[in-house]
Amino acid sequence: MPDTINRQFRLKRRPNGRVTAADFDFVEASVPTPGPGEVLVRVLYISMEPIYRLWMTDTDHDLPPVKIGDVVRGVGLGRVVASNAEGWNPGDLAGGMFGWQDYAVVPPPGIARLSRIREHGSVPLTTMLGACGSTGFCAYFGLLDIGKPKQGETVVVSAAAGAVGSVAGQIAKLKGCRVVGIAGGAAKCRLLTDELGFDAAVDYKRSDWREALAAATPNGIDVNFENVGGEIMGAVIDRMNHGGRVVLCGLITGYNDGERREGHLQALGNFIPIFTHRLTVQGFVFTDFAPRFGEAVSQLSQWVAAGQIKPRETVVDGLEHTPEALNRLFAGNNIGKLLVKVSEP
Ligand SMILES: NC(=O)c1ccc[n+]([C@@H]2O[C@H](COP(=O)([O-])OP(=O)(O)OC[C@H]3O[C@@H](n4cnc5c(N)ncnc54)[C@H](OP(=O)(O)O)[C@@H]3O)[C@@H](O)[C@H]2O)c1
Repeated sequence: MPDTINRQFRLKRRPNGRVTAADFDFVEASVPTPGPGEVLVRVLYISMEPIYRLWMTDTDHDLPPVKIGDVVRGVGLGRVVASNAEGWNPGDLAGGMFGWQDYAVVPPPGIARLSRIREHGSVPLTTMLGACGSTGFCAYFGLLDIGKPKQGETVVVSAAAGAVGSVAGQIAKLKGCRVVGIAGGAAKCRLLTDELGFDAAVDYKRSDWREALAAATPNGIDVNFENVGGEIMGAVIDRMNHGGRVVLCGLITGYNDGERREGHLQALGNFIPIFTHRLTVQGFVFTDFAPRFGEAVSQLSQWVAAGQIKPRETVVDGLEHTPEALNRLFAGNNIGKLLVKVSEP
């Protein structure tokens, strides 16, 4: 008996600080019918991404704000259940902007075929949203194309035990760099050094983290893969070598006070080393590299299948828990890629 109900989170108001249940309407709509040229997708997993919080503000952040009353925007992985689009069949795996809901109707230009990735062998479904999906693309292109790490250089990654950071650090190791991760708490730091191959880890929750960063980077820092901003970014920039590259991937410290932007301003306040040390600071969004996604999928899947990149994932069970799941990213209650499981694959 097919489902008839499509549970959806609709944005009720613009959140202030971390999201709460009162910021959303959790409604039951009918499962939509695909129109001509469209497919109906059953959402299996939602990829939890810090930028969702910025999309809930009234300012453009790469994409326009989510409108009040609209289904909350979100990247997902799903299975086609009905199709009016040529080349798409029930059972196909698809990735796309499916939103915080059980079912999505989308036109094929808005979805990517994912079945092919599984042909790389042992890559699990969840990893297709993580290390072998947009998270991995972000780490791969950000580090290699913007960071341009050379063998023997020192790379520092912030939010290093998270989704993007854990992959970026492991790629930097594969390129022969000294890799230092910054993360919150002893357990995350142990994960980095003992399991993921980082050379050193700095626990920014300890009062002596600046000294620890200095001790871990005796030759200075050549590449900063920046996910956090704020004081952490400032301390890293202060230790960068001449000609260093700052890969500005994200500034999560400022996302919950996006209206005031204090986190952003604090993060970027220390400009002096940027000119005295001839640093290059480049922001990017992984979609800038869309024409090369095939290359990234192929390389990342090979690394994962060969055990050279160890994907880490945290899965929250149940669409109804999506708002709390978003907050876990800001509380640091995730290791590696955070996903919400919406239905059984
Ligand atoms: N440019 C792009 O295309 C792109 C694409 C995806 C993601 N991103 C960015 O990449 C960054 C990481 O995203 P992700 O999806 O991989 O998330 P994630 O790293 O898996 O989760 C976020 C992590 O950030 C840390 N964190 C949160 N608030 C913090 C704060 N105030 N100070 C220090 N650390 C904090 C937490 O780890 P701790 O426990 O260590 O604090 C948390 O686990 C974000 O800035 C995101 O916006 C950019």
